[in-house]
Parts: sequence; C-alpha cells; structure tokens
Amino acid sequence: MFDFFPVSSKEFDGPVLVTGAGGCIGSWTLALLEHAGVEVHAFDLQIDKRRPGLLMDNAALDRVVWHAGDIADTLAVKEVVKKSGAKAIIHLAALQVPFCRADPVAGALVNVVGTVNVFEAAKACGVQRLTYASSVAAYGALDNGGAMSTLYGAYKYCNEQTAKVYSEENGLHSVGIRPGVVYGVGRDQGMTSKTTVAILAAAAHKPYTVPFSGDVSWLFAGEVASAFIRSVAQLRTGAPVFDLNGQYASVEQGMSVLKALVPEANIKITGEPLAFPMNHSDEPLRAFIGDYGQMPLEAGIKATYESFQSLISRQKLDANQWL
Ligand SMILES: NC(=O)c1ccc[n+]([C@@H]2O[C@H](COP(=O)([O-])OP(=O)(O)OC[C@H]3O[C@@H](n4cnc5c(N)ncnc54)[C@H](O)[C@@H]3O)[C@@H](O)[C@H]2O)c1
Repeated sequence: MFDFFPVSSKEFDGPVLVTGAGGCIGSWTLALLEHAGVEVHAFDLQIDKRRPGLLMDNAALDRVVWHAGDIADTLAVKEVVKKSGAKAIIHLAALQVPFCRADPVAGALVNVVGTVNVFEAAKACGVQRLTYASSVAAYGALDNGGAMSTLYGAYKYCNEQTAKVYSEENGLHSVGIRPGVVYGVGRDQGMTSKTTVAILAAAAHKPYTVPFSGDVSWLFAGEVASAFIRSVAQLRTGAPVFDLNGQYASVEQGMSVLKALVPEANIKITGEPLAFPMNHSDEPLRAFIGDYGQMPLEAGIKATYESFQSLISRQKLDANQWL
C-alpha cells in the first residue's frame, strides 16, 4: 500500500515531528516517513503503539522516537520540539466531533490552545516547515459554508486564522489541510469512522449498519498522510488552506465495491447524509504541493479489507472492540 505514495528522504534535512502520532492519520504518517527512511519523532498523550503497529513491524516501530505529553501543555510542547531537533512538524493531535461536543473546554484546550502551542514552539525553535490538520467541518464556521456547525469545526476554523496571523506577523508559514472523511486501517474513532468499520465488519464476518448515507469523501488514510508529508517536504510561504477529499462517491457505491469483493458481507446503510461539503476539488492542493499519490476507491477498499483480514487472522486486531 505504501507504494501508492511518493515520499523521498532526500527532501528532508532533519527529523520530522508528528503530533497525534498514535491516531489514524498519525500512524500512516509515521509509517510512510519511516518506510522512506526519514527520521521521525512521535508525540501523543501516551505512548500507545497499537494503531501504528497495525501498519509497521516491531523493528520499524522501534526506530520511531516517542514522546508522551499533552499538546495543551505549552512547556511540554516546546520541550519536545527542542529535544527532537525537528526541522518539520506535522500537527495532527486533536479531539474529534463527539469529544468536543461532550467536553467543549477540553476540546478547546486540545484543538485550539494545542495548535497555538505548536506554532509558538515552532517559532521559538526556528522550525520553518509546518502543516496542520484542519477539517471539512471548518466550513460549519462560515456563513453559507454548507456544513453543520460544530464546536470541533469552530476550533478548526480558529486554527486556520491563527495560522494566517503567524504567517503575517512572524513569518512562520504553514499549510492547512481540510480532510473530508478518512477511511482505512487505524480509523476507529470519530463520527465519520463508520465506513471503515463496515469494511472491518465484512472482514470479521459480522453484520453492520453504517449510520449515514449518501455522498461522502473516500479519502484513503495513506493518501491524506502523504499529503501532510508532501506539505513539509519543502519550505512554503503564506498560510494557505486546502480541501482534501480523495474520491467523492456515495456510501452506497463504496458498499457495492465491498459487496463485489465479499458477496456474503451483511452491511446495511441507514440515516441521513453527512452535512459536510465533500465535493470540493483536491486540485488546488495538488497544484500547490505537488504529487502526493492517489488511491482509487476500489483499490483502497480492497487494500483495507485485505489488511483487516490479515490483521484479524494474525490476531493483531480484535474486531470485537470496534463492532
Ligand atoms: N479522520 C478524519 O476523517 C479526519 C477528517 C478531518 C480532519 N481530521 C483531523 O486530522 C487529525 C488526525 O485525525 P485522526 O483521524 O488521526 O484522529 P485520531 O482521533 O485517530 O487521532 C488523534 C490523536 O490525537 C491524540 N491526542 C488527543 N488529545 C491529545 C493531547 N491532549 N495531547 C496529545 N495528543 C492528543 C490522540 O491520542 C490521538 O492519537 C485531527 O486533527 C483531526 O481533527 C481527521
């Protein structure tokens, strides 16, 4: 699966620090960087290698330098950026929609203060290559953005504004990416993770109902990770923010692909479409950062299904935890 995504160690002049490295996109980012021979440092609340371990063997996992800490802790973040000697930062740590809804203050601390901490640490340590995850949910913070309003989206939009000010006032430039719905190995939390759970259910021979229908983005986790990596593969200027949706197709289309692969799969679809605009083009991002690879829908669902099958049979993944 890694071969779909071009990452070259020659473009990096030192370590890359990945925040939220134990999450879904973080795991793929670690795996792609490590696979390409780039020195990589991982930062997360705890040292939990379970998700990265779905993609990397033990030797590869051991080559990653891990740091545990809270992204909302200003001093801790600065210390890790300094200690790692990072030349680039890929900032992914965040709490997703349900967590921000359940605890708005924690959401703001992690998603907003955490991002300011990363910018402050980058400024203090002279890190010039910085990218961060916004979200399609940020459209909910715009008038007529075509998305439902969430605190998560409000925090993400705030981060985009923060990035703009750091670029203008401090010359600290960044690239913001607004992913749509990400799917793939490691995607197990957040309201939009259910298309992945359906693929897992098929691999585990369990019935499952996806709780939303209609058009979504099918953005392969390796593809979004590769885009973040490409964003820091060179120095950038300004604070542009880009959409990233991968393949725009319905939940129904994705499940037909799965059904063709696994005719006995017992997957149903219910509920309304997600209220986020996921039909925006990826071309402006591709034009700005260059080629970061692309995963077609059929190939991505097949690769995810086969990976889940293999992980379950090797007892590296207990599907019951998710289903
Ligand atoms: N997955 C998607 O579909 C999607 C879509 C749009 C945007 N995004 C954004 O992309 C980024 C990565 O998403 P993901 O799917 O990998 O999320 P995830 O939930 O799988 O991972 C997030 C990681 O952040 C870490 N984290 C949470 N609080 C922390 C704290 N206080 N200190 C340090 N680390 C902390 C978590 O432990 C977790 O490992 C996030 O910023 C998310 O908002 C994801």
